Amino acid sequence: MAIYFEEQKKIFEFHTTNSTYLIGIAPEGYVGHIYYGERLSGRTDNYLLRMEEIPFTPSVNKREKLGFLDSFPMEYPTGGIGDFRESCLNVRNEKGQMGSELFYVSHEIYDGKKKLEGLPASFGTKEEVQTLELLLEDPVLGMQVVLSYCVFEREDVIARSVRIVNGGSETLTLEKAYSACLDMDNEAFEMINLCGAWARERHIQRGAVRCGKQSVSSARGESSHQEHPFMALVAPGTDQQRGKVYAMHFVYSGNFLAQVELNQFDSIRMVMGINAEQFGWVLSPGESFQAPEVILTYSGEGLGKMSRSFHDFYRNHMIRSVYNHKKRPILINNWEATYFDFDNEKLLQIAREAKRCGIEMLVMDDGWFGKRNVDDNSLGDWVVNEEKIKGGLKKLVDQVNEIGLEFGIWFEPEMISPDSDLYRAHPDWALQINKREGTMCRNQYVLDLSRKEIVDHVYEAVAKILRGANIRYVKWDMNRLLTDLGSAHLDAAHHQELFHRYVLGLYELQERLVTEFPGLLLENCSGGGGRFDPGMLYYSPQIWCSDDTDAIERLVIQEGTGLIYPLAAMGAHVSDCPNHIVGRITPFETRGHVALAGTFGYELDITKIPDEQRVMICEQTKMYHKYNDLVREGDYYRIASYRENHKFDAWAVVSKDKREVLLTYVQVLAEPNKRSRKLYLQGFDANAYYRLEGTERVYSGGMLMYGGFLTEVLEGDFVSRLYHFVREEQA
Ligand code: DGJ
Repeated sequence: MAIYFEEQKKIFEFHTTNSTYLIGIAPEGYVGHIYYGERLSGRTDNYLLRMEEIPFTPSVNKREKLGFLDSFPMEYPTGGIGDFRESCLNVRNEKGQMGSELFYVSHEIYDGKKKLEGLPASFGTKEEVQTLELLLEDPVLGMQVVLSYCVFEREDVIARSVRIVNGGSETLTLEKAYSACLDMDNEAFEMINLCGAWARERHIQRGAVRCGKQSVSSARGESSHQEHPFMALVAPGTDQQRGKVYAMHFVYSGNFLAQVELNQFDSIRMVMGINAEQFGWVLSPGESFQAPEVILTYSGEGLGKMSRSFHDFYRNHMIRSVYNHKKRPILINNWEATYFDFDNEKLLQIAREAKRCGIEMLVMDDGWFGKRNVDDNSLGDWVVNEEKIKGGLKKLVDQVNEIGLEFGIWFEPEMISPDSDLYRAHPDWALQINKREGTMCRNQYVLDLSRKEIVDHVYEAVAKILRGANIRYVKWDMNRLLTDLGSAHLDAAHHQELFHRYVLGLYELQERLVTEFPGLLLENCSGGGGRFDPGMLYYSPQIWCSDDTDAIERLVIQEGTGLIYPLAAMGAHVSDCPNHIVGRITPFETRGHVALAGTFGYELDITKIPDEQRVMICEQTKMYHKYNDLVREGDYYRIASYRENHKFDAWAVVSKDKREVLLTYVQVLAEPNKRSRKLYLQGFDANAYYRLEGTERVYSGGMLMYGGFLTEVLEGDFVSRLYHFVREEQA
């Protein structure tokens, strides 16, 4: 059993394979955090709540209530009554006064896990997950707060969420409703986040936690290119294999905040939730608000173990697609091949050539609808442009199918071009502030997905296309940020709800899509990787990682993304050189090796590349089929980081049974007069022997890990090698 309640001391214990989490209840009913870390066995205790530290006992000496509240390690802190650290919940009453206080009422422990209404969330069977629901109450407001802890024993994960119920008689306004908090004593923690920009998404950043608050956030309406809804606190010296890691990741695709605060008593408060900036929610009596889920994990074995816990967790308990554990068809996308300049004949030429090389799907990107030949029109008019696609979409799809390829298509359903029939008919469907001209971005506005009739219209427009032809894949793009937060249908009291209501509308759209088309391979995208988050993974097993397809830039982007996400979730393609974003020229082979650590596909004009590259595509598609099961399902080990050493990069994927290991090594910059490079490998069975494929060499797993592996001496910049080790069954 993963969850246990110790009645006498009133301690809730969660035990996963490698961790323990303890919650205590103070005599007054405050719910406090006792411990999170290495798995404990035997009797636990609550002394770490420091309740005896005079004068911090509110029931004995009410004068010191403030001192108590400002230092007690709260499981879910509220604002306005004396805890001056970051609160998780700010509630205003009808008089506009802000303050709330929560006390334990009851709890329920059950096998399995409930769905979160309208939101993406993890799932598991009664054997895989156990849930504790703690019911807390503010007796003055009549407000109930349910803290849910879903304990996934095998993956060392606790999924947390919060539901707020207005059980009183006055209308309440939530100004902040975060999803999780972790109060701990500081251990000279460092903070790790993922930061970036368009074409530079999710670069790993690490720095000391200093006094005060440090945060990452988004107020852009999506999880964003710039900052990521992830935060890890690590003890000094933590690396891939050693050290304590506490990590939180938010299952949400809109505005977020992840923050750590170091306070006067050298304690740490880590919080995560919907960004309170421009958030509000009106709760009338009887109504409730569901805050999204936070995925929490602890690793005592460094960042590598954290990555593998997240990967397993997302593969087993977040991604629902039928493609989750299946090879995805190798696709060729025409975006970098043609941009808007294509017609049916061009696409068929690409399809014919692609088929010869072993490619399995053609994806028609932006520009097939309305009158769109540049990016300033037609979003919203999801009708095929028969001047380009002569004879219509179904005919093209059938022809591509006859060639032997599946067909995929691009949409940007959340958007509306001012130059579109949809905008001319419904100018009020765009988000807009009264009397103010909308802020243009990529020549488009954002549809108001808080309105049901707009969600219905958008869904039908997309579904009609999918119902009309044999379309097996959709790339769902989103190319601008949310501004001009005004909805023609919300009154002043409810306007602060708009950002979140937009995200709920988006989730409803994608839920309907995957329900009606369960066999569809959905790939989310947002101007590259601007909305790469666990919320999106719930609907699509893969997300386009970045518009930067340069193999060397991708090393850093994919290292950051792979820190949390399974490799098979990362949309990665081989593209043409000079690279369209950075102008760099890299070997075709390296581009293939880097894309292999993702979904794998192509994004180039296959009819125009040199013959020898077409030959290499034939080899690469075979390489994909040979290794994809391993890459998709295996354990990921980061061996070296070009981001850190500025010279080379290496990672390995190890099959769960440790029978096979695929090591990828990229020499980014050549150095003169150097011997072979030694890599300390990880993940092997130390007592087994492994043959390096293509050679007669047999290595012991222990030697490779503790003695090291010597790479070939390579000449040139940007060159790479794959090393495939297979266990010798009779050593
Ligand atoms: C942004 C995407 O990231 C690209 O791959 C491409 O689909 C363009 N949008 C099309 O407008």
